[in-house]
Amino acid sequence: MSMSERFADSFAFENQGSSGATARPEPGQPQTNQPYVDLRNVSLVYGADDEQMLAIDRLDLQVRKGEFVAVVGPSGCGKSTLMKLVTGLLQPDGGAVFIQGEKTTGPVRSVGMAFQNSTLLPWRTTLSNVMLPFELVRPHRQRLRKHYDEYRERAIRLLEIVGLKEFANKYPWELSGGMQQRANVCRALIHEPPLLMLDEPFGALDAFTREELWLMTQDLWLKQRFSAILVTHDLREAVFLADRVVVLSKRPGRIILERTVDLPRPRTLQSTYEHGFSEIVTEIREKILEARA
Ligand SMILES: Nc1ncnc2c1ncn2[C@@H]1O[C@H](COP(=O)(O)OP(=O)(O)OP(=O)(O)O)[C@@H](O)[C@H]1O
Ligand SMILES: [Mg+2]
Repeated sequence: MSMSERFADSFAFENQGSSGATARPEPGQPQTNQPYVDLRNVSLVYGADDEQMLAIDRLDLQVRKGEFVAVVGPSGCGKSTLMKLVTGLLQPDGGAVFIQGEKTTGPVRSVGMAFQNSTLLPWRTTLSNVMLPFELVRPHRQRLRKHYDEYRERAIRLLEIVGLKEFANKYPWELSGGMQQRANVCRALIHEPPLLMLDEPFGALDAFTREELWLMTQDLWLKQRFSAILVTHDLREAVFLADRVVVLSKRPGRIILERTVDLPRPRTLQSTYEHGFSEIVTEIREKILEARA
């Protein structure tokens, strides 16, 4: 069994549906066509008075339930800002953000996040960082005390798969940057969120580990079909993982290309060197070069 399959398998016993205000619909509940994530005419301004800077300008973006969208664009164009808007960490100055039809007014609970800079809590060990969502997200937080060993096992299994088992009891400052990022991704995924937000989560990793994590993410997505938004500068990564790649202009971010990736899954690393794949990467690259000019 490959590393990625083991990773995906480690989630098999826990698919308990509801996890907060924006949880997956219960089985039997009517399915609607409403997008899982819906940004309508969203603008975001940083700063005040004459220091104001428009980071996002009237952006419309929808992500369907179970869809994997990658967002690419020049540095500083507003990608991380977009992620903070979707997760409710920032409120838009114009327009509105809806998650599963509900307008966001604050941090969205049912989201797994792994951002550019690892946000591990320095006073917690790696293991206890990875277990953090169990303390916060329903239904786990009610079950945690009674089923602590089961949850701990699950977190350790995940750490083992990404090569961090020996570091479970170390603190973040005792880990390398790449190890911190891996733990960060583990924490984003451990509670099987219906929406996964990844902001350059593999950026600090070497090429081989990064590709292993692509496979791992793909396997997991194929099993769980969560909705996902991935920000990356790596176009191979974007095309490998996504159903659709969205290209943003330079600041203020606007969508200048949406490219559907209709390549069959599971995608292989070999396929990233094949013609159909490279053709899509080239098209996106050309659009970004245009945007940077
Ligand atoms: N908290 C903040 N206060 C003021 N300006 C900010 C803040 N965060 C980001 N910005 C500015 O908003 C713009 C967009 O930033 P953002 O971090 O969203 O870009 P990005 O597309 O994620 O870039 P990168 O690819 O380099 O990560 C940048 O010009 C940045 O300087
Ligand atoms: Mg960023």
